[in-house]
Amino acid sequence: MPAGGFSVSAPSGTEFEAKITPIVIISCIMAATGGLMFGYDVGISGGVTSMDDFLGKFFPEVLRKKHQDKESNYCKYDNQGLQLFTSSLYLAGLTATFFASYTTRRLGRRLTMLIAGVFFIIGVILNGAAQDLAMLIAGRILLGCGVGFANQAVPLFLSEIAPTRIRGGLNILFQLNVTIGILFASLVNYGTAKIHPWGWRLSLSLAGIPAVLLTLGALFVVDTPNSLIERGHLDEGKAVLKRIRGTDNVEPEFNEIVEASRIAQEVKHPFRNLLQRRNRPQLVIAVLLQIFQQFTGINAIMFYAPVLFNTLGFKSDASLYSAVITGAVNVLSTLVSVYSVDRVGRRMLLLEAGVQMFLSQVIIAVVLGIKVTDHSDNLSHGWAIMVVVMVCTFVSSFAWSWGPLGWLIPSETFPLETRSAGQSVTVCVNLLFTFVIAQAFLSMLCHLKYAIFVFFSAWVLVMSVFVLFFLPETKNVPIEEMTERVWKQHWFWKRYMDDDNHHVVNGNGKISANNGASV
Ligand code: BGC
Repeated sequence: MPAGGFSVSAPSGTEFEAKITPIVIISCIMAATGGLMFGYDVGISGGVTSMDDFLGKFFPEVLRKKHQDKESNYCKYDNQGLQLFTSSLYLAGLTATFFASYTTRRLGRRLTMLIAGVFFIIGVILNGAAQDLAMLIAGRILLGCGVGFANQAVPLFLSEIAPTRIRGGLNILFQLNVTIGILFASLVNYGTAKIHPWGWRLSLSLAGIPAVLLTLGALFVVDTPNSLIERGHLDEGKAVLKRIRGTDNVEPEFNEIVEASRIAQEVKHPFRNLLQRRNRPQLVIAVLLQIFQQFTGINAIMFYAPVLFNTLGFKSDASLYSAVITGAVNVLSTLVSVYSVDRVGRRMLLLEAGVQMFLSQVIIAVVLGIKVTDHSDNLSHGWAIMVVVMVCTFVSSFAWSWGPLGWLIPSETFPLETRSAGQSVTVCVNLLFTFVIAQAFLSMLCHLKYAIFVFFSAWVLVMSVFVLFFLPETKNVPIEEMTERVWKQHWFWKRYMDDDNHHVVNGNGKISANNGASV
């Protein structure tokens, strides 16, 4: 769209010239290790909290309950303190996102990743060496701060550095790493559960590996051209753009980023700007996607799979083992998404997964409803396998849909001017609802019993209807052209785009207008 007398974007439907260069691939792989750390934290707590040595040291009450026969199967692990161990990380993470929004804008995506790495390293040390509950929780809080900073910077970094036609696939590297982190954590738990009495320490300390990888990665990658240009480093931004695109012909893309950044500069109150009418579609979608992603019930499985399988009558070993299987399914199915997201598109993946998730949850509920009562679990070998297969069916569909797309779509739909603020709201809402699930799931399981899976399946129905009517396809649309090519064309959201003048709230809180900018 021409603006200010020069062409700032490629004509609709064509792409900026961009090769898939080694530097892009390497940068993305390094940045995505932020996901590894997040995944490890998600996956480690379930196994650790089912280890007797750990429970005996920090939660003796739960250990007593666990071995008492009179406790209901569904309520063995219902303990607020124990849930706080899992959930405190997410509470800290969501608070950190607001600071992370500032650092991603002012210091850049790369430095924000470095800050995350440092938080992670200190958190891991405190956790591995924990002598009491306070030290344990303090470590979890620092890890949470790391998650807040990493989840803010990494998806933005990936979306901005990737050439449009493989943006979806590269962005999903983040989620792929999340799933690898979860799997790695369950494998570690499987091994350390046999080491007494300090196996849990090893589980918590091995998080140091992804933490160090992210920190080193952040030291070596280049920052994104968008971030450099946004911070006024135009020449450096252009040079980086040439390097990552593998061509000298970057003028059109460069101009488009400069224009987007000029508008971004005028925004002195990014959060207030986010609330403007013209940003409503992206904001509503980003917030709802996060709530929906968590209400698929995925983390009930990811955090508590060993505990859940234990509840169903599996022995400790079998529970940890089953968590490894679901973890492996999670990784492999994410690869399906890497391959297909830029081919079949975002909507198709989400809709197919909706059907698959709904059916598997209903079947799990029915089997548990009939077979697992408060005091006897008659889950025979056959039924137990059936439950594990259905959990895997559920996890696989999540892994090629809501898992990666919950992060991808918000990171590619906000215009540069609200991108950091938008991403920070995204991460914050995600962690808020992750916290809610982490804190409430074991109590919900105790009260709702098998019906908890009916509860989640109802949510899956709601989110699929939302996708059907309100989520536009963003496959193959250059990131700075979303307004023109996506929002202005959508049957519902176009009503928020009726205003061609581009309003931003400037430093004095006054409204100014920029004409016809194509961001
Ligand atoms: C979610 C996490 C979840 C993970 C499972 C991510 O996209 O944000 O909460 O644990 O997927 O693979």
